[in-house]
Amino acid sequence: MATFAIISALLSSNNVSAQDTPTPFDCAKISIGGNSYDISALKKTYLVKGEPKAQHPNKLRVDYSVNPCQAIAVPEGQANEHCLSGTWVCQDTKVIFGEADPKTVTLLPIAGTAPAAENVPAREVSPLVALADKIENVAEVPWNLTLKGGLISGQDQSAVITFICDTSATDYDVAPTLTGYKNGVASFSWKSKAACAVHTELPVKESMGGFSVFLTVLFSFAFVYLVLGAVYNHQVYGAKGLDLIPHRDFWRDFPSLVVDVVHHVWDSVTGRARGGGYVSV
Ligand SMILES: *[C@@H]1O[C@H](CO)[C@@H](O)[C@H](O)[C@H]1NC(C)=O
Repeated sequence: MATFAIISALLSSNNVSAQDTPTPFDCAKISIGGNSYDISALKKTYLVKGEPKAQHPNKLRVDYSVNPCQAIAVPEGQANEHCLSGTWVCQDTKVIFGEADPKTVTLLPIAGTAPAAENVPAREVSPLVALADKIENVAEVPWNLTLKGGLISGQDQSAVITFICDTSATDYDVAPTLTGYKNGVASFSWKSKAACAVHTELPVKESMGGFSVFLTVLFSFAFVYLVLGAVYNHQVYGAKGLDLIPHRDFWRDFPSLVVDVVHHVWDSVTGRARGGGYVSV
């Protein structure tokens, strides 16, 4: 069992490359340049409210709905209040008439999947992660999550969410901040504890890999040795119980043998001669 666990750990740790996330995108296992991130606590739909802007004769406000992990869930019967299904980041443009409640005029996809339509091939989110530029006074380097697939008036859309590690930001209901919308790219910044690396891989990883391989081989040999030895003892000598253990006498004496050798080496190293040769244990 130990061998199996080691082998599967080896297999799973080896096929994640530096800039890629495993497919399908898993929010709990994001890997960038040797760091792992888990933003599964943010697997929700967040509402990012925009600022009202004067637009004669009324005001417009552009809100966004964002789910960084999967498509926004549309409750039954509310399709008209949401982007089409498959959308991860939705741009919700509202018009504000005086004091009345804002009214949604368009719901357009910034990022999401969509099946092929007339003259438009199928759209994919293709989540992509990369380390971003370092920020002063932030312990960890922020990282970007890019979500694609949106299409508005023939222009490709995408969302770039910059995750900034902040160990004090533990309220996972706090929405990201919109930092801009330009040329079809909606940028967000998200300070959160969930954005901190969960496990920083050390440079010794390579040698640890080698050591695990060594242990795996050792355990496998030990297992084969025990099984074959037991079968042999049983077939040839009709052994039962503890007598099945191969070379049982040798292994029984093995610990004291090791202790003897260690004592011997210790004595030679310290230059101390022991009168009676071997020490009984
Ligand atoms: C990360 O996103 C920010 C905001 O959109 C952008 O300015 C920056 O160039 C991006 N960095 C990388 C490495 O993608």
